[in-house]
Amino acid sequence: PTFLKVKANKLANPFFVGMAVKANQLDSGSKYDGILKNEFSSISAEYEMKMNPISISSGVYNWTAADKIVAYGNANGINVHGHALVWHVAVPNWLTNFSGTDAEFAAEVKKYITDVVTHYAGKVKSWDVVNEAVDDASGNLRNTIFLQRMGPNYIKDCFKWARDAANAAGDTNLLLFYNDYATSTNIAKQNKMFSIVDDLKASNLIDGIGYQMHNTYLSPTKTQIETDINRAVAKGLKIHVSELDIQVNPANDISSFTNERRLAQKEKYKEIVKIYNAIPAANKYALTVWGMKDNESWIPYSTDLNHAGNDWPLLYDSNFALKSAHTGFLEGLD
Ligand code: G3I
Repeated sequence: PTFLKVKANKLANPFFVGMAVKANQLDSGSKYDGILKNEFSSISAEYEMKMNPISISSGVYNWTAADKIVAYGNANGINVHGHALVWHVAVPNWLTNFSGTDAEFAAEVKKYITDVVTHYAGKVKSWDVVNEAVDDASGNLRNTIFLQRMGPNYIKDCFKWARDAANAAGDTNLLLFYNDYATSTNIAKQNKMFSIVDDLKASNLIDGIGYQMHNTYLSPTKTQIETDINRAVAKGLKIHVSELDIQVNPANDISSFTNERRLAQKEKYKEIVKIYNAIPAANKYALTVWGMKDNESWIPYSTDLNHAGNDWPLLYDSNFALKSAHTGFLEGLD
């Protein structure tokens, strides 16, 4: 078979083909190990490089799983993207229940960002500094513990702390990303994201935007995606399709993976890869798929989505067999 990264590396303007991984998948000789080495040129941690698994208490860290993932990438010439320094869903209990002042809370966030960026300096090529800061309904800043305790400037503070830590560690090439979802279909959210991005860019604190792209076989449309992404291209930002998966059962109207949805999914992967491949070289970074095989995707088990366990969103099936989606990805690289 043709391998994804082999074809991507032959492009006039190559980009990383990424996969979200778990540390326990990376043992030498595992099925994941073989596929990752053949097909992927970048990895993100699906969970283990977030704040809650790493941060035990103030200044106390559990690096084990994250170190394993980073070491695997570094040992195998695979790019490592850091996901994510600050995210309201990944706040450890000790920080959620922090009884100190707001200034002391901010100092804890600064210490965390500084320590993590320093720990992985030169080993992790990019970080999602802040993830999902924009509220879906209002298009304003999401009312998270960070906004409540640090105020609306918290995003800029976090990017500055990350930039300062990287520069202090000599990692002047570290790429800092803002990461979010559904900006192509939610224009208020898209506009708010770009106002945040413009403010960061004015202070040279941001290098790229992560478009999660938890899409469906129907949405967003090609035009919606291109309109959104072209705004980032125009600002000279790197673009990371950071968490791509394609639901085929968003309305929970099928109980098995029908051929009609299989082919629709193939076409949607092809469409998204083609859109990404068409952006200018200067804006390319990585296109990352959020997991390897269908039965390990977050989607069927998500309480936010009404899938009742039925969806097949990724490139490999539960037996690691290639799906038509994988063929669609390859065709998108033509
Ligand atoms: O492994 C631990 C286990 O040791 C512990 O006992 C158990 C009890 O909480 O948790 C286990 O961790 C789970 C982890 O996935 C394992 O991979 C967490 O509960 C569970 O919350 C976590 O879910 C992840 C979720 O983010 C929250 O961090 C999903 O795998 C992951 O796909 C999902 O990814 C997010 C992106 O980071 C941001 N964009 C949306 C995307 C989907 O929600």
